[in-house]
Amino acid sequence: MRRDPYRRIARFYDVLIEPLMRVLRVIGMKLQPPAEGMRVLEVGCGTATFLDLYERKGCIAVGIDSSLAMVDTARRKLIGRASIHIGDASRLPYGKRVFDLIIMSMTLHEMPSSVRPTVLNEACRVLKESGRILIIDYHHGPPRSPLGHVSKISSYWIEFVAGGEHFRNYRNFLAAGGLPALIDPHQLSIVNEKIVGWGNIALYLLSLKST
Ligand SMILES: C[S@@+](CC[C@H](N)C(=O)[O-])C[C@H]1O[C@@H](n2cnc3c(N)ncnc32)[C@H](O)[C@@H]1O
Repeated sequence: MRRDPYRRIARFYDVLIEPLMRVLRVIGMKLQPPAEGMRVLEVGCGTATFLDLYERKGCIAVGIDSSLAMVDTARRKLIGRASIHIGDASRLPYGKRVFDLIIMSMTLHEMPSSVRPTVLNEACRVLKESGRILIIDYHHGPPRSPLGHVSKISSYWIEFVAGGEHFRNYRNFLAAGGLPALIDPHQLSIVNEKIVGWGNIALYLLSLKST
């Protein structure tokens, strides 16, 4: 059985990573504001901080993650307020057209390239026709200022330290053209996008293409 890559870091994840992520979550929630009763699924929810923010605004929060250590941490944090499942993003255990919003935050880049299209297909399957997908991940384009170089180099080192397959997948995600290269233009369209971190991070709001 594959070892859980987050088994050591899960307990410290919020302390180490949340200061970097918080501003992205704020921007993400402006791109797709929460609404009372909105059904939100976070795929690769980690410690579920994003879900926590949506749930506090009246959304119904569901998360899924393949790391038991991350799921344990998330369940302790959102006890009784969200359904957090252990599972694989490429085989979502949900029915068709269930969710109003699907979030994937810093998750796609760490998956193998062969898996990413399946994960997006699964997201499309469980998304309501009127729903949205909010993706936050590394931007494949060049830095947009000297600070962009600093930001990209810092991310490179974080991903390098994550190591092995994680680092290979990150490099492949960027080299392959990031999220825009992954989107099947017959299935999804970009409703809104925002490039931040001086060109290092992208936020995309996607919708299903009407057939
Ligand atoms: C960098 S963390 C981001 C966590 C969270 N989305 C956030 O914004 O803080 C990436 C998460 O994706 C999860 N993940 C990676 N591949 C996955 C897969 N195939 N299925 C489910 N979760 C996956 C990891 O276990 C990890 O918790």
